[in-house]
Amino acid sequence: MILPPDIRRALDFLPFGVSDGSGAFDALRSEAEYANALLHTGEGEGADFLGWVGLPSAVTPEVLDGIRAAADELRRRAEVVIVIGIGGSYLGAKAVMEALGDPFASLSRERREGGDHNSPTIVFAGHTLSEDYMASLMEAVEGREVAAIVISKSGTTTEPAIAFRIARQHIERRYGAVGAAERIVAVTDGACGALRTLADEAGYKTFAIPDDVGGRYSVLTPVGLLPLAVAGVDIEALMAGARRMEAATAPDVPFAENPAAMYAAARHALYGAGYKIEILAAYEPALQSFIEWWKQLFGESDGKRGRGIFPAGAIFTTDLHSMGQYIQQGERTIFETFLSVAESRRELRVERAENDGDGLDFLAGRRLGEVNRKAEQGTTLAHVDGGVPCIRVEIPRLDEGALGELIYFFEKACAIGGYMAGINPFDQPGVEAYKRNMFALLGKPGYEAEADEIRKRLG
Ligand code: PA5
Repeated sequence: MILPPDIRRALDFLPFGVSDGSGAFDALRSEAEYANALLHTGEGEGADFLGWVGLPSAVTPEVLDGIRAAADELRRRAEVVIVIGIGGSYLGAKAVMEALGDPFASLSRERREGGDHNSPTIVFAGHTLSEDYMASLMEAVEGREVAAIVISKSGTTTEPAIAFRIARQHIERRYGAVGAAERIVAVTDGACGALRTLADEAGYKTFAIPDDVGGRYSVLTPVGLLPLAVAGVDIEALMAGARRMEAATAPDVPFAENPAAMYAAARHALYGAGYKIEILAAYEPALQSFIEWWKQLFGESDGKRGRGIFPAGAIFTTDLHSMGQYIQQGERTIFETFLSVAESRRELRVERAENDGDGLDFLAGRRLGEVNRKAEQGTTLAHVDGGVPCIRVEIPRLDEGALGELIYFFEKACAIGGYMAGINPFDQPGVEAYKRNMFALLGKPGYEAEADEIRKRLG
């Protein structure tokens, strides 16, 4: 179970202490508790999008069975499954898959005894408009048994819509309309949108995204669970982890035991003290996409009204050799949250060498994970000494349960922090601006009025 984050090395940077008698910390705690309560009473802004709050405890075994059955069907039929979506409609699944996956699966698959040889390769599409990316992907799936999961809550987002048209036409050419309907699953709104209409007309299997769950809070719905089940992830264990965190962050849990409230309060106080950039840093490369999911969750929720913490990410120690200098001595507006994994899944020790020419015999017999943890401890102290407040969130290991806890923990903290900042953490009005210009430039019907003016501005 994730413990409440260690915020001691962040509080030291605040102009008030936990018990300095100023009452500032008590006020912060009350604000976090109040914000958390609002998420449960539904009296805050954006209350139409609170479906994710009780999702882990509300999901039934039948719902998970239905998702697993659809996933098994795709696993049976396909060597490659194209998962199509953008933003909240793909980042969560990618994050969990990578965190649990083997980075060298393609090399080790044939060699390993007893592994899951029937697991299809998952590829992502619809998150980019890159012609090269999509053309390579379609070339790579040529001649292979292929299936697709298309995910779009609105059903109208341009990037996944284009990718789906390309993938669908490929699948229809290969298997015919009936065969395609057995290989395409759509995850979208229960009633509206172009994708819903298209899926119903074509007879695709569909899963509905609950109306009251927004994209970036949707990984624990079929949006994330279906692709994860196809990848062989234990989705019940993931939900069980999320359920544990739901209980641990309930409104009646005291502040000091509520991980999400503590993290939200620490971030809020640091922002108020001038720390405007947060780096989520992990020491496991497998967490790279998890950091991308986190960046979207917090960036899209917080960045409004000319305010908000800028969420950045780093993988250490790799990025200590690129961004380390800036973090140590650059502008002092950064704070860090270390996402620490207590136990490695595999074991590898540094062996003694006949000739200690590289001078590493002092490490002989020690696990690489221990070296990594010492790097984390050393970095934390160095960065604190350099003027960077540090928060630490520890998970026991990279498994489904811990990731389920972590997902819910960050979602809850993000929503609490949004309410503390006085914004609606569930909308994203700013995302529309680029779309309007792009549609006008592409000549989409309905955008004629803007087109001339935009073209003039581009010169
Ligand atoms: O968090 C969000 O709401 C967004 O990131 C969406 O998930 C993203 O824009 C994709 O939207 P849709 O699922 O409607 O295609």
